[in-house]
Amino acid sequence: MNILDVIEKKKNKKQLSSAEIQFFIDGYVNDTIKDYQASALLMAIRINGLDFEETLNLTKSMLYSGEVIDLHSVEGYKVDKHSTGGIGDKVTLIVAPIVAALGVKVAKLSGRGLGITGGTLDKLEAIDGVSIDLTEQQFIDQVNTIGFAIAGQTQNLVPADKKLYALRDVTGTVDSLPLIASSIMSKKLASGADGMVIDVKYGSGAFCKTMEVAQELAEIMIKIAEGFDKSIVTVLSSMNNPLGRTVGNKNEVKEAYDLLLDPDHADENLLNTIVEVSTYMYEVASKNSHEHSKQAVLDVLHSNLPVEKFEAMIHAQRLSNEQVDINLTFEAKNNIDIPATEAGYVKAIDAETIGHISLELGAGRHTKEDVLDFNAGVELLKVKGDYVEVGDIMMKIYSDSAIDPSFVDKAQNAVEYSSSPVEKLDAKVVLKS
Ligand code: URA
Repeated sequence: MNILDVIEKKKNKKQLSSAEIQFFIDGYVNDTIKDYQASALLMAIRINGLDFEETLNLTKSMLYSGEVIDLHSVEGYKVDKHSTGGIGDKVTLIVAPIVAALGVKVAKLSGRGLGITGGTLDKLEAIDGVSIDLTEQQFIDQVNTIGFAIAGQTQNLVPADKKLYALRDVTGTVDSLPLIASSIMSKKLASGADGMVIDVKYGSGAFCKTMEVAQELAEIMIKIAEGFDKSIVTVLSSMNNPLGRTVGNKNEVKEAYDLLLDPDHADENLLNTIVEVSTYMYEVASKNSHEHSKQAVLDVLHSNLPVEKFEAMIHAQRLSNEQVDINLTFEAKNNIDIPATEAGYVKAIDAETIGHISLELGAGRHTKEDVLDFNAGVELLKVKGDYVEVGDIMMKIYSDSAIDPSFVDKAQNAVEYSSSPVEKLDAKVVLKS
């Protein structure tokens, strides 16, 4: 087989066979197919698409390009959760201990931040003395004993995706639904869970800019999961505003821990997302009705069990035998208050802009090598639906580095006001297999 023929075929809008897809993945992983050839094929796919059969075959070839985690030695139902990426998305840190407190195992392999979207691994590492590097055995043991673990992917989990994603990132080929679906699903399937809940974000801070596109992506992922006989629920949720009150790393972990300590005072949209995602994770695993599952989540959330689970995870994933201080209060060297420029109801605080500000403050990376400022970030004192007067503090921005004064304008321009009341809660759409 010749890669040029495969590229020509897709360029001419023909269906690729499973053998041709396998040939591409094998060749790219073992370097016999070069970056420029893979780039040409990815662009042909980006422009001409893949039908469902091709997408399923691509997912299979990627999934088996490396090791697949065997969770058989973990007792009970294993449920996984994934978010397609957002601004202020600390959901994993909160739902994993909640669901584990309900007796369901959560074996979660997470990622680092990508561009303006944060990553759970970076957030966890913001807690001094915590490790995300677990061996497969440590990971399995921890899921068995505590009920959940959050760790980085091993080098050999879906190596095809590692290479392809890095190439897509620099060749304008990230925004292809079949490529996104196969990338996400190959990693989820390789992680070995029995069922999964995928939070598909749409809006200004997500790569799916509209709910329609998010729905199309969700439908492809549902069909892939069905092809592998796995249960899946997709929750489509808005990322037009940041999720919760914080965007950064240490501040997001603090918000997550605070929600577990005192859910009644949490940000409403964040709490709503937490309850929704936890409920579906529990429902997929327990097969109980939605109402029963939701009540179980609300009950456990108001007990101390999820806090104990969270603390047990921090203790288990500590780097040394020293106790980790989970007191997450911190103060960055520099901070600026951002006042409201108009009176009225907050209609939106643009997630994409806040993501960029947080990245520039040091909470995200421009290159893989960048070192994060864990103290940097944005804190929203007002959110969608709140009424403000001119001069009220809308948000705070902070960083250990000097803050460019232009961020004040940028942050103020992120806020849209309305003279009439604005609905606080974002609605969610759920699609299931
Ligand atoms: N997240 C992934 O894991 N893959 C993509 O292609 C896009 C988002």
